[in-house]
Amino acid sequence: MNKLSKMDAFLASAFKYQHTFQCPKCRSSMALINKNLICESNHSFDISKKGYVNFLLAPHDSIYSKSLFQARQKTADARVFHILMDEVADSINRLCGKESISILDAGCGEGSISAGIYKRLGARDIEFHGIDISKEGISIAGNCGLPILWSVGDLSNLPYKNEAFDVMLNVLSPSNYSEFFRVMKENSTMIKVVPGPGYLKEFRNVLFSSTSKASYSNQKVKDLFKKNLSNFNSQKIQYSFSPDELQLHDLIEMTPLLVDRNLEAAEKEKLKKIQTISLDYEILTGSKT
Ligand SMILES: C[S@@+](CC[C@H](N)C(=O)[O-])C[C@H]1O[C@@H](n2cnc3c(N)ncnc32)[C@H](O)[C@@H]1O
Ligand SMILES: [Zn+2]
Repeated sequence: MNKLSKMDAFLASAFKYQHTFQCPKCRSSMALINKNLICESNHSFDISKKGYVNFLLAPHDSIYSKSLFQARQKTADARVFHILMDEVADSINRLCGKESISILDAGCGEGSISAGIYKRLGARDIEFHGIDISKEGISIAGNCGLPILWSVGDLSNLPYKNEAFDVMLNVLSPSNYSEFFRVMKENSTMIKVVPGPGYLKEFRNVLFSSTSKASYSNQKVKDLFKKNLSNFNSQKIQYSFSPDELQLHDLIEMTPLLVDRNLEAAEKEKLKKIQTISLDYEILTGSKT
């Protein structure tokens, strides 16, 4: 897809769903005018040729680099996240059976998981938004060729109107419950994916073998989710993946644990010898009442 058609694809969806957006500066309504989303106070956010809109009010430095997101995308292409995406799509179908639904993926990174879930939801009428604070991530997401509305923005100041979404997705990303609840409809569903204790444990074992970071607990995150949502449910998903050499390289590159870490030669050697990678997730679901 060339650059113009990515913008046109965004414009077509934005035209249909322009009234879902709300200005992150003054919180007034927005409309699509001449390739810009413009609010009632004239704050204007232009649509990038790369197929997204940038709502960030200040520049943001992130530990997540372009190469990390590219490696995440290649890892997704190697079908490492397929079981997770199947299960999340099943949860959406089970918990929100309406023919027409609106979904926000908050903290969507480079969008591989959002796109995989969108495709699995089939022929339903879906308004799908993905937002992430990283412009690097969202510029990659804009390439996906699906009618997903990608935005660069902060999940603590979402550019969407109150009670806009039937489903709030939040995969391996931070949450801001008061802001999420503002944009979620009454009785809507939240689906949060958290890593389980075995998630990428082979990397942890090499890096943190003798420290407390070798093990990870998601208990506090789960407790907070339970405190905020009703009809709580949780589902554990555990599987493994045997990467070839290139896939292992991408898995190492996509892991925030390894960002900015100067690996010793012995650690690099141990990482290269890893044969199997464990994926361990918990899918938390609940409703806003
Ligand atoms: C581990 S990545 C997960 C990305 C994606 N959901 C996935 O599973 O592939 C965490 C993401 O949260 C995003 N993030 C962190 N703080 C954020 C914020 N305040 N607003 C929006 N996104 C944020 C990061 O930029 C990063 O893309
Ligand atoms: Zn405004």
